[in-house]
Amino acid sequence: MPAPTSPSAAGLEGVVVGSSSICFIDGREGRLLYRGYDINDLVEHSTFEEVVFLLWHGRLPGKKELAEHERALAASRKLPGKVLALLKGFPHKATPTEVLRTTVSALALYDSDAENNSPEASVRKAMRLTGQLATIVAAWARIRAGKTPVAPNARLSAAANFLYMLHGKKPDPLWSKTFDIALVLHADHELNASTFSARVTASTLSDLHSAITSAVGTLKGPLHGGANEAVVRTLQEIGEPERAEVWIKNALAQKRRIMGFGHRVYKTEDPRAAHLRRMAEALGRQAGNLKWYEILRTIERVVREEKGLYPNVDLYSGTCYYAMGIPPDLYVPIFAVSRISGWTAHVLEQHADNRLIRPRADYLGPTRLRYVSIDERK
Ligand code: SDX
Repeated sequence: MPAPTSPSAAGLEGVVVGSSSICFIDGREGRLLYRGYDINDLVEHSTFEEVVFLLWHGRLPGKKELAEHERALAASRKLPGKVLALLKGFPHKATPTEVLRTTVSALALYDSDAENNSPEASVRKAMRLTGQLATIVAAWARIRAGKTPVAPNARLSAAANFLYMLHGKKPDPLWSKTFDIALVLHADHELNASTFSARVTASTLSDLHSAITSAVGTLKGPLHGGANEAVVRTLQEIGEPERAEVWIKNALAQKRRIMGFGHRVYKTEDPRAAHLRRMAEALGRQAGNLKWYEILRTIERVVREEKGLYPNVDLYSGTCYYAMGIPPDLYVPIFAVSRISGWTAHVLEQHADNRLIRPRADYLGPTRLRYVSIDERK
């Protein structure tokens, strides 16, 4: 009989499975820190490119270092020709998340560092993946619409370049700012399911591309990624602010999961939601259309009153992307366009001080059954 292990909580809720110095979440106070810096300060003063440096290297860059880092990231956005050709051959019904999962894996075949897990090679690969994921997502959005992909523009920031590659024109400054804030907010979040999946893969000493492929596959699930896409579909279903209260009360009465609410760690408002709420209102005012924002404010009030649940990062992110003309099925891949920075930081940390991640199961099945030959069975 195997030695009984201490049964862990369902879904490893509250179980500490390792240590890390990358991200701290205070679920009670609603605080989120990247390498010790509060997300509120990073949203106000930093950029996605600087946050990528911070996550990978554990400190803020000096002025020269940042300029070099920004140049290197911008130079890493191009896809190998053969990978772009692969994208053009995919069936147009393939979802953007399936295409991203498949293409990340294919990128390894054209990356000379693919099988090299040294810190130097891993940072080079992290640089390329952080640049290339945005290019994959924007290129697929255009290819499936029968349009020609737009080549990345190294003179634009990561946020502005994504919108440029997607829409084929330089973006509105408020759109670039909003998208940069969204990239900062989604960059890392401790051991969420997709990051944990990346670390488990890396802990076998598998390579970075395999770990990121695992992470994208994990993010694909609607309980993790996809909630912001579902929020926008809900908004489209509700349609008008005056219908929001009845809709949400019916949904709660039917015991439905309300996407964009609740969190395994936060027991108060997800600090990321406040920034995205603010940006959703600003974009709505700019467009002269506040109805999505008003619908969400009503839903927020009722869900809080009736279920005691708070918004998470997904409640307003989709509304921001929708206001910028981004189709809902791109929202999970956009989450990955930012979280690639955190995923790669965690793989670097795992490889730097590795031990195979191999937990135990609390065995519930029978033991010592006698084997019955087929002739004796019914
Ligand atoms: C992300 O982990 C991370 O850090 C992820 C993330 C990141 O940055 O990586 O923050 C990104 O994934 C955000 C979460 C996006 N997902 C959603 O918005 C989907 C809707 N939310 C849930 O399904 C839920 O809140 C989870 C999955 C996020 C967390 O769920 P838990 O911790 O497993 O909690 P649970 O499902 O056990 O629910 C506890 C109670 C239940 O009530 P009872 O059945 O005990 O009466 O709360 C209720 C649930 O019914 N509940 C909800 C709800 N979330 C929890 N009820 C209605 N709607 C919800 N959204």
